[in-house]
Amino acid sequence: MAQFWKPGTEKPRLLDDEEGGVLFLSSSFSSSSSGYGYASIEKQRQRLPVYKYRTSILYLVESHATTIVVGETGSGKTTQIPQYLKEAGWADGGRVIACTQPRRLAVQAVASRVAEEMGVKVGEEVGYTIRFEDISNPDATRIKFLTDGVLLREMMEDPLLTKYSVIMVDEAHERSISTDILLGLLKKIQKRRPELRLVISSATIEAKAMSDFFQSSKRRRVSEGEELRPRLEPAILSVEGRGFNVQIHYVEDPVQDYVQAAVSTVLLIHDQEPAGDILVFLTGQDDIDVAVKMLTEEARSDGKHSSGLIILPLYSGLSRAEQDLVFSPTPKGKRKVVISTNIAETSLTLEGIVYVVDSGFSKQRFYNPISDIENLVVAPISKASARQRAGRAGRLRPGKCYRLYSEEYFVNEMSAQGIPEIQRSNLVSCVIQLKALGIDNILGFDWPASPSPESMIRALEVLYSLGVLNDDAKLTSPVGFQVAEIPLEPMISKMILASNELGCSEEIITIAAVLSIQSIWFSGRGVQRELDEAKLRFAAAEGDHVTFLNIYKGFLQSGKSSQWCHRNFINYHAMKKVMEIREQLKRIALRLGIVLKSCERDTQLVRKAVTAGFFANACRLEAFSHSGMYKTIRGFQEVYIHPSSVLFRVNPKWVIYHSLVSTDRQYMRNVISIDPSWLTEAAPHFYQQQRLNPIIH
Ligand code: CDP
Ligand code: MG
Repeated sequence: MAQFWKPGTEKPRLLDDEEGGVLFLSSSFSSSSSGYGYASIEKQRQRLPVYKYRTSILYLVESHATTIVVGETGSGKTTQIPQYLKEAGWADGGRVIACTQPRRLAVQAVASRVAEEMGVKVGEEVGYTIRFEDISNPDATRIKFLTDGVLLREMMEDPLLTKYSVIMVDEAHERSISTDILLGLLKKIQKRRPELRLVISSATIEAKAMSDFFQSSKRRRVSEGEELRPRLEPAILSVEGRGFNVQIHYVEDPVQDYVQAAVSTVLLIHDQEPAGDILVFLTGQDDIDVAVKMLTEEARSDGKHSSGLIILPLYSGLSRAEQDLVFSPTPKGKRKVVISTNIAETSLTLEGIVYVVDSGFSKQRFYNPISDIENLVVAPISKASARQRAGRAGRLRPGKCYRLYSEEYFVNEMSAQGIPEIQRSNLVSCVIQLKALGIDNILGFDWPASPSPESMIRALEVLYSLGVLNDDAKLTSPVGFQVAEIPLEPMISKMILASNELGCSEEIITIAAVLSIQSIWFSGRGVQRELDEAKLRFAAAEGDHVTFLNIYKGFLQSGKSSQWCHRNFINYHAMKKVMEIREQLKRIALRLGIVLKSCERDTQLVRKAVTAGFFANACRLEAFSHSGMYKTIRGFQEVYIHPSSVLFRVNPKWVIYHSLVSTDRQYMRNVISIDPSWLTEAAPHFYQQQRLNPIIH
């Protein structure tokens, strides 16, 4: 096993052992639940690398419209800069400092950390807002953490974001689709609000491109009072890293199964290496749950090698209690193993990590405008990501990173940088948001990275068919404006509007709430048979959407019982979340004038409403296919029903799916059977009669 590894030559950037091995942070440092006194927290704050730059940061923000702060993960950018700004008076007079994050979990974690540091309750002076969860108080909140998507939504009500004095766009290196849209819009806002300050913070050193972007606007004529304006060219500040050296190990030969390899590597480290926590990067809830289970079983069956391991998953959708476990300090004599998605790459810093195991993969969105198919794919990460991941091992003392790929692969095949999400996404949501903000010339919009014209055209086409855009590519009234106002993907919003006309809004709102969360089923391997049996109890012949209605009804009838969920392999926390989201959707629906009405289980109406939103995802079973192969009507792509669907192996002739996942094949998740005539009814432009007729008959 030991020969499995070969030490590498690559030295992560920003990780020089400049501190000469000085222990910068102790392993007992930091925990949201450790109950440190205020003084101790103050000291911790002063020890963060960013503290040395406090005065410079405040000076630059004062004198420049945009300040770009680059600094290694964990240097204190997210938790400290908003506090510095507040201390310097940027939140006086009722103004608010905003800090955006691409990830919901990071928003919650960071807000509670900052509230703790300031000795206040989350939701008061420090608050946060993520979709469907607003823990802020308009009168009291001075520092507000929010997802970049939520800030975009706020622009629909307040286009110039007037309540904010400073907006910190954090994790800009991630180039999430909402971050890019936000950057483009903030650049516009700056022209109208010279007093607004932007702080763009990033973990990697591509500050130049970002700086060029903010500089590229034409300078206005100097007018009276101009000297009061901040300088327009962005300032760049680099926070020196404090990380220790990280020794890189590569595998000699490519691994077949990265989950298995990750598990073996964790056991090997535990067996052979001194104390220190382990952070494993896998891709998503599914493979993380498998790895947690494998390691837990190993720990049970093989006490000698794995005693003392505390094995914890980390992905979005974890409950508060599960998140707290990840951040709490490791008890003496134990070793924590956190198995995470790339959320721990830069968004969250865990103390105590000395070893990193990097699978080399993450889940990424890919969109093909030709086939009009978007899915989440397990894809290789970039060199930049690999370096970030390795860097997580060097916070406490010199660490080690075990890469589950070869050095040759790293050097020759890994791309240097990832592709911005906007260039690999379906743009339907993006286009409607820009339209709702009055940006009509979308192709001419000032993008930090331009999306492809094909994707744009596809998005316009779909929105036109949904009745959201008119012939002039403007939002239709009222449908377009209503769809834009619902904080869900436009196809779901359209489905909700259609349900109003069809008289099944109660049912469709339930379905929309379920589709907004990852899964309502209990996850975990080894219980597949029980899970399948439980599903059968609720399964509806019409498909998954109708099955959700059965589950929801059962849950209500049980008195929202957790035991009932447990017995039926349903995730109780997920169901509670569904109830919460449903309540919020109900409020939005009422505001839009939607009448809440139940169709009393006339499932045809429910399925017609789904079709009205998701007609673009229609598929037909291949006539002579015994393998359950479907083809999309749109692009004749080969797709299959996912084994988790109640329609798996049932294979109705015509179906509509909610989303695709790609593994060995393209699988449709959440599938419902339809009558093809509903397609031309719902979207005559999209499915021109002559195109569909030969297929239907
Ligand atoms: O944003 P950046 O990566 O530069 O650092 P940060 O998130 O502000 O983290 C600064 C310090 O706060 C790190 O030592 C984190 O471990 C700690 N922190 C924490 O203990 N709990 C959190 N929820 C967030 C940060
Ligand atoms: Mg951060």
